[in-house]
Order: sequence, then structure tokens, then C-alpha cells
Amino acid sequence: MNRRTFLGTAGGGGLLLQTRRSAAQATAQAVHPGVWEFRLGTPEKITPVATRRYPPAEAGLAKMPVVASCPVSVSGSGSRRGYLVWIPLGANEIVYGLGLQLQSLIQRGLKKKLRVNADPKMDTGDSHAPTPFYVTTAGYGVLIDTARYATFYCGGKQRKGQAAAGAQASAAIGENALPAAYRRRRFGEASEVLVEIPEAEGVDLYVFGGPTMRDAVARYNLFSGGGALPPRWGLGVWYRMKGDFNQEATLALAAEFRARHMPCDVIGLEPGWQTHAYSCTYVWDKKFPDPAGMIRQLDSAGYHVNLWEHAFTNPASPIHEALIAHSGDYEVWGGLVPDFLDPEARKIFGGFHEKEHVALGVSGYKLDECDNSDFTGNWSWPEIARFPSGADGEQMHCLFGLRYQDALEAVFEGRKQRTYGLVRSSGALAAPYPYVLYSDLYDHREFVRGVVNMGFSGILWTPELRNAESTEDLLRRLQSVVLSPLAQIDAWYIKNPPWKQVERKANNADQLMPGWEEIEAKCRSVMELRMRLVPYLHAAFVRYHRSGVPPFRALVMDAPEDPATWAIDDQYMAGEALLVAPMFAGESGRAVYLPAGDWFDFWSGRRYGGRQRIEIQPPLEQIPIFVKSGTILPLAQPTPDTRDAGSFRLEVRVYGERPAAATLYEDDDSGAPSLAEVTLAWDPAAKTGTIRGAARYDAVAWTPIA
Ligand code: GAL
Repeated sequence: MNRRTFLGTAGGGGLLLQTRRSAAQATAQAVHPGVWEFRLGTPEKITPVATRRYPPAEAGLAKMPVVASCPVSVSGSGSRRGYLVWIPLGANEIVYGLGLQLQSLIQRGLKKKLRVNADPKMDTGDSHAPTPFYVTTAGYGVLIDTARYATFYCGGKQRKGQAAAGAQASAAIGENALPAAYRRRRFGEASEVLVEIPEAEGVDLYVFGGPTMRDAVARYNLFSGGGALPPRWGLGVWYRMKGDFNQEATLALAAEFRARHMPCDVIGLEPGWQTHAYSCTYVWDKKFPDPAGMIRQLDSAGYHVNLWEHAFTNPASPIHEALIAHSGDYEVWGGLVPDFLDPEARKIFGGFHEKEHVALGVSGYKLDECDNSDFTGNWSWPEIARFPSGADGEQMHCLFGLRYQDALEAVFEGRKQRTYGLVRSSGALAAPYPYVLYSDLYDHREFVRGVVNMGFSGILWTPELRNAESTEDLLRRLQSVVLSPLAQIDAWYIKNPPWKQVERKANNADQLMPGWEEIEAKCRSVMELRMRLVPYLHAAFVRYHRSGVPPFRALVMDAPEDPATWAIDDQYMAGEALLVAPMFAGESGRAVYLPAGDWFDFWSGRRYGGRQRIEIQPPLEQIPIFVKSGTILPLAQPTPDTRDAGSFRLEVRVYGERPAAATLYEDDDSGAPSLAEVTLAWDPAAKTGTIRGAARYDAVAWTPIA
């Protein structure tokens, strides 16, 4: 048993390693600008870093602010329970991250066991995308490079005899939004993060310097390979057809969207398009007699096609036999579990997808069921499963979503084509993947918290819309959806679009709501808002891609010095300049916190001072959005799809007296877009705007709002 204790103090990049019996010196390696690696004990061979597809984005990392020395010290020890790591936490240092945590924003004071779980209903760490990475308001991040269900105690544990002397709630907090939680969880005391990693005899730990929390997150995302850049079409509206639709029904509804001017860029097919779905054959069923023809027809109407599937390979699949030697020793739903850590498995799997779907024009996938449902349902492989690559079931659960994405990334990258898709499991180093998480849990508040939280951990998330409790619920959910990374309506179990009937049973019985056209019109204008924002959101993703700054972020990431932002889990930033405060059904108004600076109501143009909480009563048609003063906000024409020329014709709003120039990027959706910069600038004296560098973009109107 390994009982050594490593104590690292990381001043000046050096790490002092000591054992209980003998002291030894080692060095914390500065592996990239502002990134330090600590090797503690003997790490496992199968980890997120060891199995990564994308190398760190060196160019982006080189442009980050200089951090002279590692901001935290680290100590570790072997244990019969696995490997233990301690990282100190200061008084009032708030912890965020750990992946897609739908039930909580602040992680400080909580114990989280990072298990992959398809139904993460409790706030215990279970997640579709548990990520062993956290950041703090002190402006650094920590990645524990493990593919185990690690447990994080994020402060609040006291060792015997060390009851924090002089530890008391700092007055620095003053009037803030979380006095109760603040006292209960003892944020004001110095403490530590304790991480327990089962099975392991050591671990590599990475520290990401800031100086700000936002910089630390950006550095982590760049270390991961840089943020994903979806094609523009991926930023349009998505609609998933009911599972039992055939080719004709699919084409008919797609035609109806165009006829009724409901914007849509991507049509998703749900289980039912293949001869066998659970487990999967990946072979088109006769319900789709001419998939290539259907895709061509949809393409000519401006649509892309996305296919639902999961990885468990049915015996009737043509790749089943080839995968036998490259799969685990347990099956799921009678299908093989491909060993996606094995390049050969990825090749067999990806190769078939390329030939049978992508070559026909399929633009991407929804990779379902790649999380683990044994905690709540009863499927998936056990933790004791073995895979030819050497991984056990637990490690495979931690890496499966990512390596599954690798199998398909290889296909699109090989064709020099970009994709955008969905995935139900992800984890460490996910930033470069153009895949968005989703869930069967359907709580609107939790779904919004997902948008707030995703930005801490290099993941993307959609609070998708299905059916609704009421038309109010429908509109409020749709509004959150269009202000998220992927604007998806997932009608996989409803026959008619939800704006015709929100109630599932009645919908499937074709009993439409009286006056549904009015609801449809309201939904149309919400979807049009998305279409108008495509250039702005696209630019936010280019920044994610190049500089690692998440396109959707918690308020605290931009204003960590303002304690009033620390606990806000129902407002978020979309891009640099938009503050979004979604409404929930049943509420006629809400409080909105505006951080420092002046803000403008997107709808009315009314100006508000910052560092204040305001009460608003927005009408049902409007999701509260506030624009930061000093912003040039380009809005496209509301087009049916992103290919329409109107998607490049901009009405430019100019907020405040001295707006900074705004940058958009030319993108032809190809595998190697130019991303040439288009600059929008405003001359306050002359009251005129200019657009420079544009090939496709054009500014057709400028409106100053002050
Ligand atoms: C679920 C998935 C849903 C839908 C459904 C179809 O696992 O989360 O979005 O695709 O499968 O069976």
C-alpha cells in the first residue's frame, strides 16, 4: 500500500515533495503558460488527459496574461481508499464547476461524488457530464486528471485540533445575496478542498492560473484544445421529429415550417429511422425508403439532418461482427458496447457512419444513452466490466461520451466538414467538442441553471423544449432555449408542434388548442429572436474557439469581486454584452441583478444603473435581456434559416455614448472557414456607423440608443 504523503508548495513553479518518513524534492512543472502539472504518486494509465484527442491550443495559451507562479499548493497521500489530494481554500473563496451540476451553482461547502448518471435528480454530484475541474473566485482552476468517480469535499471539513483559529465570517461580504448559505456553509473560514480518488495510487493534477476566474476557465478551455466552433447553421433553430415519423411525415412537417414561416435549420430524426433502435443497427429502415433523396430535398429547402442513435450495437448491425473483438465483456440492450478507447473500434464504428449517413448528407448526430442509468434505471454496463483497452467499467463510464464523440469527430474532420450535435455524456477536456448536452429531466429552473453552470466546465448544454404545462410554460421555456448554445425543440414524443397543442396526449390525438395560430405566432417571434442573434452568437463562439471564453457564463465569472453575483443561478451572460434573466411559468415578475456599469432593456431601450437589483414585470412575449452600455449589437433579419441572405443583413443597435467596436467573423460553414474579421464601429460625433472587412455581412441600419 502506498502511504506516502506528498506536500507541494508551489512558489515559483517549484514543488516540494515530502514523505512522512523521508522528504524528496520534485518540481511542479510549468507545462504551458500559466498551467502547472503536479504528479502525485503513480497515476493511472487511463485518464482524460492520457486518452485526449485534441492537443492544447498553444497559440491561444501564449496570448493569456502572464501568471508568475502557481497560485495554490497541493498535497497528496496514498490511502487504502485510493488516493487523496488536498488543496487549500481561503476564507470567502467560492468554488464553482465540477461539470453539469443542475441542482447547485456554488460548490463550496458541498460534497460531490462525480458519478456519471443519466438521471441526476439529487445534488450529490451525479451528472451527465461530471467534470473533475473547479474554479474559485481567487482566480485559478484545478483539474484532477482522473477517470474515476472522485469525491470532492469543497471546504467545510475540519481536522481535529485545527478548528480555524480566528476564522470568522469576513465582513468583506457585507450586504450580499447569500447571508444564510454563507453562515451555514462557513464560507468565511479558511478550509481546503479534499479529493478522494478511488482505486488510484496517484494522480496528475493541473492548476490553471488567472489572474481572474474567467481567465482560469479560458486557460482550462485552451488547455483542452480551445472552444468548439459550431457552423452557423448549428446556431439556427432545431426541431426533432416524433420517433415514429416516416419519410413522408418528416418531409410534410418540414414543408409546413416553411409554409408557416417557422424558422428552422436542422431537422432531427429520433429512434425509428433505423431498422432497430434499442440496441442500434445504424441501418435505415424501410420507413425511410430513400434517405439520400430525402436529405437532398431537405437540403434544397435549407435544412440539415441530424440522426439520433446510441452506441450499443445490435447483432443485426453490419458492424456487429467486426466490433466483437473491440468491445466490452457486458452488453447493453443486447448490443455490444464498443471500446471507444481502442482506435480500431472507433474506425469500424465511424467508417460505417460515414458511408451510410454522412456521405448521404447527414450533418451530425445526437449521441444518446452514453451515460449510465444503473443508479436509477437498470441498463448500462457494470463498473466491473472489462474492455480490451484495459479500462474497467467505471473508467469507461467516465470517458465513454468523449471517446464516442471522437469516433464521429474523426469522420467529419476527415471530410473537412464541421458538425454540431448533441450528446448525453461528457466530461474533462470537453471544450473543443461541437456537441451539446441535454437531459430527460425537465425542470425549467434546473435547465436554466445548466446554462449558468456550463461555462465553468468547458461544456455546452441546451435546456430543450418538449411539451409544456401551459402556453405560458411553452413560451417561457422556448425563450430560454433560444438564448442557449443550441435552440432545440425536441418533439420526439409529440406528433404536432407544441405550439398547436402543449398537452402531450391531446397533441397525439390531433386535438389542437383553439386559437393555436396565436400561440404559433408568439413562438415564431421567439424563434425569430434566435435568428436575429445568430451573427452575435457566432462571434461569441469564435471567441470561445480562439480564446477559451465561454459563450454563456454565470454573472460571477465576469464580476467575481461583486459578492452580489456569487449566488445568482437564474441569470447569465450570453456573449460579452447580453445579460439574460429568464422568466418561469407562474411568475408575473422577477428581480434582476445588474452588475457594475449601465444597462439597457433590450426591448424598451430603458437605461438602468448597475450594482442594483431591479424588479420587472415583462410581458409574456418578452424574455428579459439587458444590453451592457458601450455595446454595438448587430441583429440579422429574421430568416427561415441561416443560409438566407437576410441572415447577413444587419440592423445595428448602438448602446451608450462611447461604444467599443464590435467584431463579427465571416464563416462559410466549411471545415476551414476564413473567420475574417468584420468590424462595426460608431462615430459618436458624426452619429454614423461603418462596417469594415465584410464580404457577406452588410449593415443596413444603425440605431443609437442612449
Ligand atoms: C431518450 C433521450 C430523448 C429521446 C428518447 C428517444 O434517451 O433523452 O431525448 O431521444 O431517448 O427514445
